[in-house]
Amino acid sequence: MQTTQAAANTALDLAGYAHPNPSYFHTRARLNYLAESYLSPDVLTDRLADLPRQFQKPHQRTWERFDWKAIATDQIIGVDPELFISLIASSAEIEAPIRLYAEISRNYLQTIHPEMSRFVSGVYDEAGNRMEVGVWEKEERQHAPMFCQIYQQLVGAKLTPQANTITPLSPPKAQQRRFIDMLFAALLLNGALSRFTFG
Ligand SMILES: [Fe+2]
Repeated sequence: MQTTQAAANTALDLAGYAHPNPSYFHTRARLNYLAESYLSPDVLTDRLADLPRQFQKPHQRTWERFDWKAIATDQIIGVDPELFISLIASSAEIEAPIRLYAEISRNYLQTIHPEMSRFVSGVYDEAGNRMEVGVWEKEERQHAPMFCQIYQQLVGAKLTPQANTITPLSPPKAQQRRFIDMLFAALLLNGALSRFTFG
């Protein structure tokens, strides 16, 4: 299998060691590295424990630096490259209407969980003008451009995503509110305990 010069020059990346000619075991080691680095119980518990702090004082996480130019089609392993690229394009379309997602979430959340509403969609004045952008929205609005950049790097052509159409949610009913309150109470309790029991 061919590798790009850029990839060959990059021994360590976000998925651990990047072997110039990856075998099945190299690829499996990289997948394990990703799962342990970003999806382990400790990492997910830390994110959950951070939620109450986010509600009190919203703060954005910084992204690690990323070498976009090192992305190449020969790194697509075990899946048809065309299928992979079409999934990247679909993901960009799903991520495109973030402003609308935030707006709909605000309409739904502001009465049942004002702090969560601020975290997701920001702060508004009485006339409905936005005074502060939500941390969730700030984070999410970086995703569509990221998928477009991956697409452009793989295909060599620009992608202009057609934003998904979205059906607004109807206002929460009393029963749903109680359920969401219980869910948040459970999440906050778990955050306070800062540990899950797995297995
Ligand atoms: Fe996203």
